[in-house]
Amino acid sequence: MALNVVIMAAGKGTRMKSAIPKVLHRLAGLSLLHHVMATATALGAARVVVVTGHGAEAVEASLAGSGAAFARQEPQLGTGHAMQQAVPFLDAANDTTLILYGDVPLISEATTKELVQASGGRALALLTVHLDDPARYGRIVRDDKGNVRAIVEYKDASEAERRIREINSGILAAPTAMLSRWVKALNNDNAQREYYLTDIVAMAVAEGVPVPTRHPASEAEVLGVNSPVELADLERRYQLARARELMEAGVRLADPARFDVRGTLSCGSDVEIDVGCVFEGDVTLADGARIGAHCVIRDSRIGEGALIQPFTHMFQATVGARAEIGPFARLRPGADLGPEVHIGNFVEVKNSTLAAGAKANHLAYLGDATVGARVNYGAGSITANYDGAHKHRTVIGDDVHIGSNCVLVAPLTIGAGATIGGGSTITKGAPAGELTVARARQATVPGWQRPKKAPKR
Ligand code: UD1
Ligand code: CA
Repeated sequence: MALNVVIMAAGKGTRMKSAIPKVLHRLAGLSLLHHVMATATALGAARVVVVTGHGAEAVEASLAGSGAAFARQEPQLGTGHAMQQAVPFLDAANDTTLILYGDVPLISEATTKELVQASGGRALALLTVHLDDPARYGRIVRDDKGNVRAIVEYKDASEAERRIREINSGILAAPTAMLSRWVKALNNDNAQREYYLTDIVAMAVAEGVPVPTRHPASEAEVLGVNSPVELADLERRYQLARARELMEAGVRLADPARFDVRGTLSCGSDVEIDVGCVFEGDVTLADGARIGAHCVIRDSRIGEGALIQPFTHMFQATVGARAEIGPFARLRPGADLGPEVHIGNFVEVKNSTLAAGAKANHLAYLGDATVGARVNYGAGSITANYDGAHKHRTVIGDDVHIGSNCVLVAPLTIGAGATIGGGSTITKGAPAGELTVARARQATVPGWQRPKKAPKR
């Protein structure tokens, strides 16, 4: 069944109290609209039409390259009016059209697939839920046989109708040709002087078109975002669901309520994650990896049995098997650490390869360096890799010992097994196997006196 998807995204979102259009606010690191777009894509939609209005430029720019078509709706005269703008962009060759909302981000592929199947090219299928508190949602009105007769908006509803607890999520699937015809016939003869998309239900019933209903697997799927409080609530529901999936696959989370994934986290077996960690982009944790509290790890791969101590920050890094990183370490893009590497507190590594067993345990910087196996890189030492115009490489051979507080002025090469004395500024490289020291010799001045202030008179 070929499918059009319409995503409504013209609303202002006044209650967000933000200059950012509502659908561009982020959930799990991606805009609300991006989540809905991903569902449309997963469904294999042949055409996606996004209705834009408030902040249209920014909203449309956020979907550049997605292939979506944009229908501008100015002013916003209701959901029916929004659909009227979308109709000319629908592909009539796609027999079914699914309507989603840019501010209802957690709608699942499975639920929407069921709804599209229920529409089946001949019926108007509605996604509804039963709520203990139906609030101000549109009510689903059924006849005594249980067939849907209409949707009545809260503001137009009678006391009896307001007692109905089955509500309209707004999400529906309909045959494209019928939907286009019904939408053209809408009027704004109601309490809000709006064009109600929901009025198509009564039109379908009048024509004898079936109106089946389907329900989401979880209520969170149909919840919209109208305020920062609701956004945070949906974020937690989303994160809790992700945490559960991981725990069901065997990952040990210290506390699923203090865990955030903004992207894809793939875990091997016996992975442990302490509280307060944030995983962004694509992160892989191999078997037995342990992540300490409050780490931020983005687009990185952590090897088997590696231990990441608390408060470590990583972006585009690779950590070898059984390595130990942190606490308070920073691995930047291109940090590629071999097995059993140790990186300690306040050590920054960027665009550098460290071979097996190399150690930089305290207060150091390694940038644009190639570091051999078993190197010991002393506290306070740095690679001076930038001359103000160009970056240069530092090559450190196997088994080198760099003392504390050294400055390695790149480009240079330090031969295997060399020792660099503490406090050295190395500018010309150092031969293998030898001790190289580059600092002023210590001297004592005999009988030297400190200056004294003249006595006050
Ligand atoms: C609508 C339904 C109501 C349902 C509720 C679910 C109608 C008439 N009513 O309520 O039955 O229970 O959704 O949340 O459809 N939008 C536009 N252009 C507009 C108006 C709205 O793009 O002119 C978009 C909004 O950005 C939002 C969505 O449509 O994403 C829903 O709009 P909103 O005003 O929240 O819903 P209601 O019309 O009150
Ligand atoms: Ca409204």
